Amino acid sequence: MKTFSQYALSKSDLGLCDAFADGFVLGAAAAAYQIEGSASADGRGPSIWDTFSHTPGKTVNGETGDVACDHYRRWKSDVDLMQSLALEAYRFSISWSRVQPSGSGAWNPMGLAFYDQLVDRLLEKSIQPHATLYHWDLPQALQDKGGWANRDTAHRFADYAEEIATRLGDRLVTLATHNEPYCTATLGHELGKFAPGFRDAALATQVSHHLLLSHGLAMKSMRSVSPKAALGIVLNQSAASPATESAEDVALARLLYAKFVRWYMDPILLGRYPDEIGIQHYPDVQVGDMELISEPIDFLGINYYTRLWASASTPPVPAPNALGVNDMGWETYPSGLGDLLLDHRENYRLPPIYICENGMACADQLVDGSVSDPARIEYVRGHLASLARASQGGVDIRGYMYWSVMDNYEWDSGYAKRFGLVHVDYPTQTRTPKESAHWYRELIEAKQRLSATQKIAVTA
Ligand code: FCB
Repeated sequence: MKTFSQYALSKSDLGLCDAFADGFVLGAAAAAYQIEGSASADGRGPSIWDTFSHTPGKTVNGETGDVACDHYRRWKSDVDLMQSLALEAYRFSISWSRVQPSGSGAWNPMGLAFYDQLVDRLLEKSIQPHATLYHWDLPQALQDKGGWANRDTAHRFADYAEEIATRLGDRLVTLATHNEPYCTATLGHELGKFAPGFRDAALATQVSHHLLLSHGLAMKSMRSVSPKAALGIVLNQSAASPATESAEDVALARLLYAKFVRWYMDPILLGRYPDEIGIQHYPDVQVGDMELISEPIDFLGINYYTRLWASASTPPVPAPNALGVNDMGWETYPSGLGDLLLDHRENYRLPPIYICENGMACADQLVDGSVSDPARIEYVRGHLASLARASQGGVDIRGYMYWSVMDNYEWDSGYAKRFGLVHVDYPTQTRTPKESAHWYRELIEAKQRLSATQKIAVTA
């Protein structure tokens, strides 16, 4: 086992902490289906991810989230583990079919109690709770009625959101409607890669509109119960780089950016869809929809992993990958995060920002009780430095959540992709903090010492 001094922070790491305003939190994230397991315990209803993962050929090795990290039963010790890592914030998602098994009608008291106790324990341990209502796991009963293709699902979602805001909104720091609606719409309904597994581009566009509508309806229903929590949404985003300066590559970069980023940002923050040349499908929009969708949000969550690379030539010009690619094949490109945020500052009136996910999958090995993952430390360093640049450029950034707190079920990729700060040995469910987790803890503690010193300096 290594001693902690071997994870020592560099001088520049300390500089990172300095760049953020007081109150900026460093935490980690996870999502219900990826960690909870106990898929049919205590009255939980099936979700589309149960159905999808159990359909042969949909996931690597047919792996499912039936057990995952067994977090539904180990949540107490998992929160203790988070405390031992000095995490200041934890972002989790609520399994809709655990709290309302059919997605409408009766609530499940045991499911609700689970999240209620989780929030209380986090607060006891001084870890900020941040919740997301929808991280891709629609109750199967609603899919059977058409899922997100059915406009009525947006109303069911608003009811669910109101119930959770009523029960937990007094204690959560943030409450987000959706996680990455792009993935639900495009990966789930156009590319068939995620649940429910459709391949229909026009359907995916209509679904994206219903997701945005459900966000707007939920913002209204949640506001009606006046929760203390800040309300918002979490979008996955990337800067787009043209491979060359050719007009074709530049146009492709604009198009990719419009489909991936602006398709969600513009309706929420500007009240309209982008009219970029090349977008082929537009949804059926009813009177009043855009006003709902552009209800003011209290915060915007951004998930950033890599950049969009735009090469229109055949064969395409490959991305330079100067800093390497991760185990998912995603290019490490930290400066894209700062570029993206500074661009947003020019184009939108931005609410406060949380980075709700950022992280890398590595082929981690547990050797003699420890996991050496220097690439992950470099990844976080690089992205925090980029974030610091955006903060110094005037973007109001309130927090950074590493994805993920522990290794977990990576959707269609199954268990082989390890993103965690904590290694999970699935057969025994043993948790082992990786070197990155020790480094991250030292960074958080240094940040806390720094802000204590600043406070003393200000009072003196
Ligand atoms: C994001 C998802 C998250 C996880 C990471 C790697 O798109 O929100 O659940 O799978 O990617």
